[in-house]
Amino acid sequence: MKINLQINQRWQEFAITPADSLLKTLRAAGYYGARHGCESGECGACTVLFDGRPVNACMVLAAQAEGHPITTIEALGEHPEQGWKTTAGLHPLQTAFVESGAIQCGYCTPAQILAACQLLAHDPDPSEMEVRQALSGVLCRCTGYVKPVQAVLHAAAVMRGEVVPGNETAEVYIPRVDLPPTGGASEDLPAGSAPGLQVEPRTRILPKVLVTPEAQSWQRVGKPEIKVDAIKLVQGKPAFAADFEKRGMLVAKVLHSPHAHARIRRINAGRARELPGVAAVLTYQDIPRVVYSTAGQSDPIPGPLDSFSLDHKVRFVGDRVAFVAAETEEIANEALELIEVEYEPLPAILDPAEAMKAGAVRLHDEPEYVNFADSDPSKNLAAEIRIDIGDVEKGFAEADYIFEDEYEVPKVQQAHIEPHVVVTYWDEDDRLVIRTSTQVPFHARRILAPVLGLPVKRIRVIKPRIGGGFGGKQEVLIEDVAAHLTIATGRPVIYETTREEEFIAGRSRHPMRVRMKTGVKEDGTITANAMYALSDTGAYGCHALTVTGNTGHKSMALYVGDGPYRESPNIRFYADIVYTNHPPAGAYRGYGVPQGYWPVERHMEKIARNLKLDPLEFRLKNALRVGELHPFSTAWSEGREPRPETIETCGLEECVRQGKAVIGWDQKYGSPAWRQVIGKPHLRKGIGVAMVMQGTAIPYLDMGGASIKMNDDGSFNLLVGATDLGTGSDTVLAQMAAEVLGAPVEDIITYSSDTDFTPFDKGAYASSTTYISGTAVVRAAEKVAERIKIRAANMLNVELSTLNVQPSDIRLFNCKAVAPDGRSVSLTEIAHNALHHTDQEQIMAVASYMSPVSPPPFAAQFAEVTVDIQTGQVTVDKLVMAVDSGVIVNPLTASGQIEGGMTQALGYAVCEEMGYDEAGRARERDLRTYHIFQAHEMPELETIFVETFEPSHPFGVKAVAEIPMDGVAPAVGNAVLDACGAQIDNNPVTPEKIWRALRMN
Ligand code: FES
Ligand code: FES
Repeated sequence: MKINLQINQRWQEFAITPADSLLKTLRAAGYYGARHGCESGECGACTVLFDGRPVNACMVLAAQAEGHPITTIEALGEHPEQGWKTTAGLHPLQTAFVESGAIQCGYCTPAQILAACQLLAHDPDPSEMEVRQALSGVLCRCTGYVKPVQAVLHAAAVMRGEVVPGNETAEVYIPRVDLPPTGGASEDLPAGSAPGLQVEPRTRILPKVLVTPEAQSWQRVGKPEIKVDAIKLVQGKPAFAADFEKRGMLVAKVLHSPHAHARIRRINAGRARELPGVAAVLTYQDIPRVVYSTAGQSDPIPGPLDSFSLDHKVRFVGDRVAFVAAETEEIANEALELIEVEYEPLPAILDPAEAMKAGAVRLHDEPEYVNFADSDPSKNLAAEIRIDIGDVEKGFAEADYIFEDEYEVPKVQQAHIEPHVVVTYWDEDDRLVIRTSTQVPFHARRILAPVLGLPVKRIRVIKPRIGGGFGGKQEVLIEDVAAHLTIATGRPVIYETTREEEFIAGRSRHPMRVRMKTGVKEDGTITANAMYALSDTGAYGCHALTVTGNTGHKSMALYVGDGPYRESPNIRFYADIVYTNHPPAGAYRGYGVPQGYWPVERHMEKIARNLKLDPLEFRLKNALRVGELHPFSTAWSEGREPRPETIETCGLEECVRQGKAVIGWDQKYGSPAWRQVIGKPHLRKGIGVAMVMQGTAIPYLDMGGASIKMNDDGSFNLLVGATDLGTGSDTVLAQMAAEVLGAPVEDIITYSSDTDFTPFDKGAYASSTTYISGTAVVRAAEKVAERIKIRAANMLNVELSTLNVQPSDIRLFNCKAVAPDGRSVSLTEIAHNALHHTDQEQIMAVASYMSPVSPPPFAAQFAEVTVDIQTGQVTVDKLVMAVDSGVIVNPLTASGQIEGGMTQALGYAVCEEMGYDEAGRARERDLRTYHIFQAHEMPELETIFVETFEPSHPFGVKAVAEIPMDGVAPAVGNAVLDACGAQIDNNPVTPEKIWRALRMN
């Protein structure tokens, strides 16, 4: 049928089917700013204005839109510089989002801006809560909503004509904060009030930063530069994988198993293949049987090879059974219904403890299975870890007290708003192009080559803009589906997962049961600490060893003991990582470490309270310090040879000092008056803490490369294989290059990543990009700078031959090469000289970096909660994180990472959990039943950066992205204990658990 729609004040005719949604129609017409994140009206990524009101375009039929003006993000504004054309530039909301750092992956950004646009049209002076309510229909998994809310308030002020500081971020930037010393006598606060201290009552765009002396003279590093990709993202440009168009493209769909464990006795795709519009149906009978691991890790993958693109056995509800490619999504779905499958159901294992029992049904009996280290499929064991440091039994024997307890952490989802998307096609040279939303383009190419029967050189993987990954896209999860179908049909294929597929067939965080045993002296000295983790990897062992290894490696390293125990700590970490018939777990931001800190920090709290010790002092007394050996560095290294590593920087004590001052610890902790809320006797307030450490990259393994090329105008192309999935890594890499080259960030044209054109990089994981890829960028920039200085010296010496300038005397800044006597040549002049005039050359360089160390960031995380002791309802009022992540290259993007990470961790703390019924069927299949925090539900978030200068990096950086995930849940658990005495050992801390715990007390 034909309809006429008024879109952005322009009438357009569309040929549609009655079932076509407005979202599908808009995207087909090139309005890419409306995005797909779900199919059921929950994520809001598809928001457009319909009669001036925000609606979810996925829930409106295109036919219903006739006669209703539609506004998409494309109507708002455009890049202010369009060559000779004069434009009005960006809308004030778009400008505010750019300048406030409100964009991370940018997938939700057009929807947020449109929702805000409607708010400001009706209320030019909204309150912060009104802004939060307006944004509440658009889920954002990256930002924690802090900066988007501030951006809307800022834009509102601009639109009201108020004089708003041109760069608010610079104004609120606080180079050094001197807070009063803490630890003095605690003074009771009046009930229900907050201490105030130095914190402004409203959230701020920029965090507090305690700047190291080394960083104070830099021009670009350490500054809140605007993200290099912000302008395209606020315009909703077609930057993501699903925005890519190709003539004749087929749509792929996957048939998923309804059984948790079964053999496929018979499969008949005949009727599906005959359906008009179906181009191919593939079953295990149609493609080569190649065993591999889907884990996107360096070679050799530290885990078993136990997966096939398609198999004659299914191992979880949601496992793959067949692939279909058809002309339309509707035909592909219809074809799935026509595939006849006869299953032989097998007993399913849904409890990890059952998986280890003798005689348990075996999940992996395929002869192709390849062991790694101690994996043993005959015991359903994907991996086993046994680490003993020091003499643990002697340490227990020397203790005055032994504390033992069991804890549990749930399976949770990355829930990036952009689903997994891949487009594959043969190029004109018969090379297979894979354009995919991946965190690991180079690993994907290497892993896929044998699976597809192609040499690496005939595969090109392109990573476009990624709409969030959080580890979920550190997996070669979908690329083979589309690639097999392109090989079968010769045609381009797109495969975009549905939200339900994300839940039933995507990856997740490993659930674990953890046993802790800790020996402690009367004075609080830890004499020995032991953890046993039973980890459920699900049906396949992707990341099984390494995720669970990091559970111990990072969380059990923090508390080494004191006195002689500090010199020779006694630590044990044992783990069994078992196969079950649950959907596979995998990488999720934090990579096993949040699972470790829930038991460790809940356990430390119990010990401190039991021994009547100050919980902060007890922790700091036993915590790892500068100059000490990372206790695990000689014991374990992700399945490879461990090597000793000394802690060079640790700002943990200062983090505690700063964090406790900001949250008002001394005034609140242990204050009976503060716990009460005036007029509400059923409410109790509580405060809790957790201390954490992470790692920065994987030593002696992961490598990143960078290349830099100088252009005629003195700008530079920076090519990196590193993968910006919304973290801002393209921006911080550009900042480091700009610092070395004396150029503004906008003169560094950053491109990531394409296996044909950018240097190798291990990809975005292990919080390593700024550290590993950043060092590669600095090295490449230094080589380019050296060439520039040599040429500049020659040019200056030709001008005035009596005053010879040495290249080493020249400094690069303000787009110039400047001699000590003040003479200078511009980068443009140098580029012209190099490319066109004298001894012509292309000034360019390539460099790479692999680190021998993995310097840990440290943090203190605090939570303040209110508990309703009648219902168990818990409200998290405030989260504070003081973190030593080394030097902060960009406080705007780094604080966005912390805010977003704390928000994800908050879900882990109080509401996120994936459950399964007795048949292994997922309970959560959409973003309604799996709740992630919305803008109006958020607590106050506060970030403080306590800089140290990590000597192993040219700009002193350590990791930022993962550490905020680690301490929120235990801090909240400890705050709930503080508030009402409820001991919750299994997170998340739900009202039901609190209610039950209070009834049992
Ligand atoms: S795509 Fe429309 S609400 Fe999610
Ligand atoms: S920036 Fe909002 S989903 Fe990524």
